[in-house]
Amino acid sequence: MADLTGKDLICTQEWSVKELLKVLELAEDMKKKRFDKKYTRMLLNKTFFMFFYNPSVRTRQSFECAATELGGHAQFLEPKSMRLKTAKSAGETVEDAAKVMSRYAAGLGIRILEDKVSHYGEGDDLLREYAKWSDIPIISMAHDKFHPCQGLADVMGLRKHLGKNLKGRKLLQVWGHGALARSWCSVQESLLICSRFGMDVTVAYPEGYDLDPAVIAQVKENCNDNKAKFEITHDVRAGYKGADVVYSRNWMTPHAYDKGELDKQGEIDRALKFTDWICDAAKMRLTNNALFTHPMPIDRGHEVTDDVASGPRSIIYDVAENRLHVQKAIMALTMEKL
Ligand code: CP
Repeated sequence: MADLTGKDLICTQEWSVKELLKVLELAEDMKKKRFDKKYTRMLLNKTFFMFFYNPSVRTRQSFECAATELGGHAQFLEPKSMRLKTAKSAGETVEDAAKVMSRYAAGLGIRILEDKVSHYGEGDDLLREYAKWSDIPIISMAHDKFHPCQGLADVMGLRKHLGKNLKGRKLLQVWGHGALARSWCSVQESLLICSRFGMDVTVAYPEGYDLDPAVIAQVKENCNDNKAKFEITHDVRAGYKGADVVYSRNWMTPHAYDKGELDKQGEIDRALKFTDWICDAAKMRLTNNALFTHPMPIDRGHEVTDDVASGPRSIIYDVAENRLHVQKAIMALTMEKL
């Protein structure tokens, strides 16, 4: 297998299944032997830059802990602490910033999504621009298209609770109404990585909430490659039947940026009308005793009821914990030898 040193992680689809398994297996071992000496010096004296355009609980905290546990350090950066060129102001180019950052740090994580982009794909373009100029790995910490660290943490959780072979298991990825206008990143990443690992996939959402057609085409291709099923339904209940995993999450419409910026209030006003689109105990009873998962933060009472989110089949905290372990594995594999 190829050495992963220096490899960017912008979407799991760009890594082979073997490479993803290498991350998962290392993360699983790191979880078992969390403070074993072999894992506490891998980033000794090295710094990971975390560049956040948007706020975070899990991503910032887990990356900071990950760097500390590997013997290194994570430095928090945000646009206001730098003087970067933007569409509206003069400043430093990505080329210069990336080249300089590469002289200091072992890796650079970037988060940019929701209201910090003016159109879908702008965040992805920015990460790829950093990747073009930097000599260190660029890691998506969630951007408008993808959230690879979340996808790996999701699969690590499913492997723990369903066993390592996920082939033939059914994932229901279901839209939830709510008072947030969320980017497509976590949902698209989950669809891509779960279909790579052989799961049957059903996506359920009200009409008008289509995801990126290119991503959906790739998910279909992944399912075809694995002889797995893929379907889209606009029925609020049908997808639950036979599901082994239910992943509920709000996401924005494809028209969210039609005004040249995120129409957050318009998206929220529209989403809140679909009150039936909540994952609740009655719908979960239609499943194959499914696990419930969500990347968090959860909009409880909208995306999912409390009794499901905090119920015996919920794996939300395991998955949140897995962010730490998969990120330690990613950092060790991509940054250790630099
Ligand atoms: N799931 C996730 O990325 O959480 P945060 O937004 O809190 O980082």
